[in-house]
Amino acid sequence: MKPPIRIAVTGATGQIGYSLLYRIAAGDMFGHDQPIILQLHDITEAQSFFKGIIMELDDCAFPLLNQVITTDNLEVAFGDADFALLVGARPRGEKMERKDLLAANGPIFRQQGKTLNSVAKRNIKVLVVGNPANTNAFITLKNAPDLDPRNFSAMLRLDHNRALSQVAQKINVPVSKINKMIVWGNHSNTQFPDLSHATVENQKILELMTQDSDWINDTFIPTVQNRGSAIIAARQGKSSAASAANAIINHMRDWVFGTRENDWVSMGVLSTGCYDIPTGVIYSFPVTCKNGQYQIVEDLKITPSDHQRMQQSYQELLTEQEAIKSLFN
Ligand code: NAD
Ligand code: LMR
Repeated sequence: MKPPIRIAVTGATGQIGYSLLYRIAAGDMFGHDQPIILQLHDITEAQSFFKGIIMELDDCAFPLLNQVITTDNLEVAFGDADFALLVGARPRGEKMERKDLLAANGPIFRQQGKTLNSVAKRNIKVLVVGNPANTNAFITLKNAPDLDPRNFSAMLRLDHNRALSQVAQKINVPVSKINKMIVWGNHSNTQFPDLSHATVENQKILELMTQDSDWINDTFIPTVQNRGSAIIAARQGKSSAASAANAIINHMRDWVFGTRENDWVSMGVLSTGCYDIPTGVIYSFPVTCKNGQYQIVEDLKITPSDHQRMQQSYQELLTEQEAIKSLFN
C-alpha cells in the first residue's frame, strides 16, 4: 500500500465541498490505490457543519480514507499537505460579476499565501477555485515567495468542460472525441473559448462547421462566457457546485498524472510572455502535463481578432490587480 497523501481543502463545509470531499475520498482525484488524509478548513463560525460531513464520510466507509482533520486554523490545514484546494471564499449572487468579490475575497488569499509560505511542504501544489480565481491565485502566489510559482494554478477547467459539452452537443459526438479545446484568459466573461484548434478524430472542428460561424460567435462563445451566471439564475441564486467539484477533480488529476496524448487542457498559470501576455498575471493557457509538471502549448497560430480577444482578458486582469495592489505585500 502507498503511504497516504495529505489534501487540504478550504471552505470545506460549503456547497462545492459537499460535492468534492466524497469524490476525493473515493479515489477519483488521486487514484483508487492512493490512501489519503483530508485536512479540512473552514472559518470558526462554520465548524459545527463539520459534524454531519464527518458522519457521512464515516458512513461511506471509504477504504482509502485514512484520517480526516477539521480545523479553523490554516496552519493545521496546510501543515504537511501535499495539495491545497483553495475553495473557501464568498460566491457571487445574481447581477454580480466575479470581480465584484475581490474586496471580500482578496484578503482571504493573502492570508492563505502567507500561511502556505510558512508551513507548507516546499513542493505543495495549490489550486485556487474561490473567485475571482485568477487574481486570487496571483495574490496567493505573491504572498508565498518561497514556494515555486509553477506550483500555483487557478481553475479554468470548468469553462473548458463547458466548452467541450457545448460543441459535442452541437456536432453530435461524444465529449471524449473532442481534443484541443482552449479557454484563454480570465475566469470571467472576458474569457475566450477558442475552437480554432479543436479537433474531432483528428479533423479540425472548424472544417466541419464552415456553415456555423454565426453559431460560434453568437451562441458558443457567449454561452461559455456567461455559463456561471446562467447556472446561478437556474439554481435560484446558488452558483455551480457539482460541476465545479468535478472540474477540480479533472484539473488535479491531469496535473498530477498527465494529460491525454494528442490533447491539452486549459489551466490558469503564471504567464511567461508567450502569446503576447506579459509575465505577471495568472492567465488560462492550453497546457500539457507530464510527471506532475505543466507545459504551456506554445506557437499556436493566432488570428488578429483572436489576439484582440486574448488581450482584452489580459487587460481585465491588470485592472483587477490594480484594484487590490495593497494585498501583494
Ligand atoms: P459556499 O458559500 O457554499 O461555501 C464557501 C465556503 O467558504 C463556506 O463554507 C465559508 O464558510 C467558507 N469561507 C468563507 N470565508 C472563508 C475564509 N476566510 N477562509 C476559509 N473559508 C472561508 O460557496 P461555494 O459554492 O462552495 O463556492 C466557493 C467559491 O468557489 C466561491 O468564491 C465561488 O464563486 C467559487 N467558484 C469558482 C469556480 C471556478 O470555476 N473557479 C466555480 C464555482 C465556484
Ligand atoms: C462558475 O463559473 O460557475 C463559478 O465561477 C461561479 C460563478 O460565480 O460564476
